[in-house]
Amino acid sequence: MEIERESSEQKKLVLVFFGSPSKSGTTAKLLNEFLNPLKENMRIETVNAYERNIAPCIACNVCAGEERCSQPDFDGIDALIREADVIVVATPVYNLSLPAPLKAIADRTQRYFAARFSLGIRNPVKKHKQAAALITCGSKDCEGAEIIARQLKLMFSVMNTSLTGTAVWTGTDFEAGSETFETARNSARELALAIACEL
Ligand SMILES: Cc1cc2nc3c(=O)[nH]c(=O)nc-3n(C[C@H](O)[C@H](O)[C@H](O)COP(=O)(O)O)c2cc1C
Repeated sequence: MEIERESSEQKKLVLVFFGSPSKSGTTAKLLNEFLNPLKENMRIETVNAYERNIAPCIACNVCAGEERCSQPDFDGIDALIREADVIVVATPVYNLSLPAPLKAIADRTQRYFAARFSLGIRNPVKKHKQAAALITCGSKDCEGAEIIARQLKLMFSVMNTSLTGTAVWTGTDFEAGSETFETARNSARELALAIACEL
């Protein structure tokens, strides 16, 4: 019993930020393709943005003076971020950006930006992480996915996190979406395997 617990605690932690309101929609489908090769050997924790309902950043600037956030609702997520080996952001594009509940989570990482640039802490998050972005777009172009990737890179730059790759499923709002899924699922699987190899 003790040995089993020890080995499961040693599993690498994959922290998923899930940004879709639909648990069985296109984003969930793409996420499953990514997680399937990892499930057996890794611990997976999911933060469902629509269920967690994290408050938006209120720009109170407390984090510019002390290494903390004035709003405690992000503390559990902060602990998971610090512990994680891999961060996955799985999200649909909404108005060329992140859906509002996930954008709120993204903005709450301001505490790491302030720790780096106001408090001068070189690595506010000690453990290095790889990251994957899994993005679904109703549109046949990937403009929204490119914008989200830029947002994530900025956010990750103060979280000791490298965006290893993205898997984008375009055209989900069209019939042709079933064809583009094949490409997206292959990218997601390859990305998962590439990340697993690096761990
Ligand atoms: C409020 C809203 C805004 C959207 N804005 C965009 C957009 O700017 N660009 C785009 O490609 N798709 C957009 N879409 C389409 C979704 O990204 C697409 O349907 C996605 O596959 C939904 O993911 P889900 O099945 O996980 O809910 C939007 C959808 C909604 C509901």
